[in-house]
Amino acid sequence: MRGKEGKEKREHHREIENLRQQIRHHNYRYYVLDEPEISDAEYDRLFKELEELERRHPELVTPDSPTQRVGAKPLEAFGTYEHSLPLLSLKSVSEESEVRDFDERVRKTLGVGAAGKEEEKVEYVVEPKIDGLAVELVYEDGVLAVGSTRGDGRVGEEITQNLRTVKTVPLRIFSGSACAPLRLLEVRGEVFMPVSEFKALNKELGRKGRKMFANPRNAAAGSVRQLDPRVTASRPLDFFAYGVGRVERGEGKEGGKGEEGGEGKEFSTQWEVLNFLRAAGFKVSPLARRFGNIEEVVKYYEEVRQAREELDYEIDGIVVKVDSLEQQSRLGTISRSPRWAVAFKFPPREEFTRVREIVVQVGRTGVLTPVAVLEPVQIGGVTVSRATLHNEDALRKKDVRVGDTVVVQRAGDVIPEVVGVVKSRRTGAEREFKMPDRCPVCGAAVVKERGRGKGREGPVRGKVREGPVVRCVGVSCVAQLRERLKHFASLRALNIEGLGEKVVEQLVGRGLVSDAADLFFLTKQDLLGLERLGEKSAENLLNALEKSKQTTLARLIYALGIRHVGEQTASLLAERFGDLEALRSASYEDLVEVEGVGPEVAKSVLLFFRQASTKELLAKLERAGVKCEKRGVRGEKEEKMKGKTFVFTGRISMPREEVKKMVEQLGGRVASSVSKKTDFVVAGEGVGGKLAKAERLGVKVIGEAEFRETFL
Ligand code: IVH
Repeated sequence: MRGKEGKEKREHHREIENLRQQIRHHNYRYYVLDEPEISDAEYDRLFKELEELERRHPELVTPDSPTQRVGAKPLEAFGTYEHSLPLLSLKSVSEESEVRDFDERVRKTLGVGAAGKEEEKVEYVVEPKIDGLAVELVYEDGVLAVGSTRGDGRVGEEITQNLRTVKTVPLRIFSGSACAPLRLLEVRGEVFMPVSEFKALNKELGRKGRKMFANPRNAAAGSVRQLDPRVTASRPLDFFAYGVGRVERGEGKEGGKGEEGGEGKEFSTQWEVLNFLRAAGFKVSPLARRFGNIEEVVKYYEEVRQAREELDYEIDGIVVKVDSLEQQSRLGTISRSPRWAVAFKFPPREEFTRVREIVVQVGRTGVLTPVAVLEPVQIGGVTVSRATLHNEDALRKKDVRVGDTVVVQRAGDVIPEVVGVVKSRRTGAEREFKMPDRCPVCGAAVVKERGRGKGREGPVRGKVREGPVVRCVGVSCVAQLRERLKHFASLRALNIEGLGEKVVEQLVGRGLVSDAADLFFLTKQDLLGLERLGEKSAENLLNALEKSKQTTLARLIYALGIRHVGEQTASLLAERFGDLEALRSASYEDLVEVEGVGPEVAKSVLLFFRQASTKELLAKLERAGVKCEKRGVRGEKEEKMKGKTFVFTGRISMPREEVKKMVEQLGGRVASSVSKKTDFVVAGEGVGGKLAKAERLGVKVIGEAEFRETFL
């Protein structure tokens, strides 16, 4: 009996392994080579067969089975992972001459060409610099064991279950003649999102009224850092391998350890590494080349730059690496960047186009921003049809006219900008543009405010721009209303999920809301009348509105959109006055007494509460049932914050300075490094080494959401 069972089991095992091999092969053909050999239907049949067998024999399921990409449970938080060899960063250059300088330094340091070294040559491997997220994959005995982000190069986040969902990340590497079984293999590369997929994803997110990503890199980073791997699995991510870390053979023979120079001791050149990675089943850039001198490298840079426009992924330059690993180790590393490699970046993307029209956009507080409407051009895979002209002064300085041929730039995730005018192309038919003296949307008068205008609500966030600000003073301007509603609903205000731009536009356009409070009186019937809003979305939105009625005073003050009252000031005011009524009846003296509130803010607050429209809005909000936590709750929170020391790491959604002030106002302290005295480490996005230290010292690590929830 036993024997028979054993035999059957072995057979099932063989059958299952056989199916897995086939599926792995077809995955590779489809995802990595983009050359499928069988139809989707045939593939599905194989996959279903494997699933069925594994369902019947769960004891035979292994983590490297193709069925096991998704399936892990959502995490509470990511753990940290210390890389055994640091993931280095690259020094960037943007001029040809700098690349030649790099070559010279390399040859000089190696002594190439010097007496006695006439024979030694330097070869370079050139790869595209993929604009994504650096990760490391650790394979133990050929099976993916750990996946992590780069983090600060030394310590990253452990995101194994998310990286497993990326189809071009092998769960098991191929072992053939090119690569004898390896006990350990660390592969480095870049996770990215194809541009076409990024656009489709954003469209989908926009349709659902969710926040969209600024660019493919953010989309990739955001997707890979999802706590629920099912979300990551639904995101179209891809992976290019470009290097190895530690490599150990089966017999215990070790590769390099501890030092950068020791990376990939099993190999003698970077070129070999790339070929090995390809043979092991990874996707390696087909644009990688090897050259015998720097002139060829410079020439190839131009070629890649041309090719860039055709690629479905973003690259921001080329990476030039000394090919010989022995030379690499002789060259060594300074301050986390190797002396043997350099990133030769592409210049910001620019394109010529024509200005069809100049229009004026009205912001939340009525600021008028001139915007050039362009003949659509493709700039780096993105269609650009509008570009900001910032303000009247900037527009005058550049002398942009309707009909002009202009140079438009799109750099990183910044809004496209008109860089300059090609005056030689002028025909005389161009028209100068004058800022209107009435609001183009509501027709109310505009006022010019002298002095420095803060660009915060303008196109370049956070930067202070010179020049007068032109502002619409209309009280019932629909453009302002739209922007105010968007602000009211935003994440850091009342956080009303599902109230995206499209919905707001329709609500205002159809006259369904004339101030923020009206949102709470919307009925399902109202919402079902909107375009592209189904039954389910309507219900979700109503629920979100209901949920948002329970809020904090600080959030509500911020949501009201009082000029000069940002999140931090709102928090201070909430602290000092405790409820809206007290704030409303505060005098100028009361206001300026609050530390951190100056005359400008005080005047603005007074003015806001004096307006009839404000009184009406507040009464309506009360009627709608919008409630802020009472002081008691705040008091409790303050108790929690008092005397506590926080260390922030990674990216959080507020400027660090603001958070620091806020914590201090509430009786806490912010330190820059983790020690035994730290009470909480607040981990934002892309967190680094501080987490590892926190873990070592047993300091509690919380996310930004928890921090807000608990303390603010
Ligand atoms: S090599 C030399 N190769 O660029 C060690 N990096 O600043 C550095 N990157 O964080 C890594 N494509 O995310 C290397 N072909 C490539 C790359 C590449 C993109 C990124 C990587 C790293 C950053 C280096």
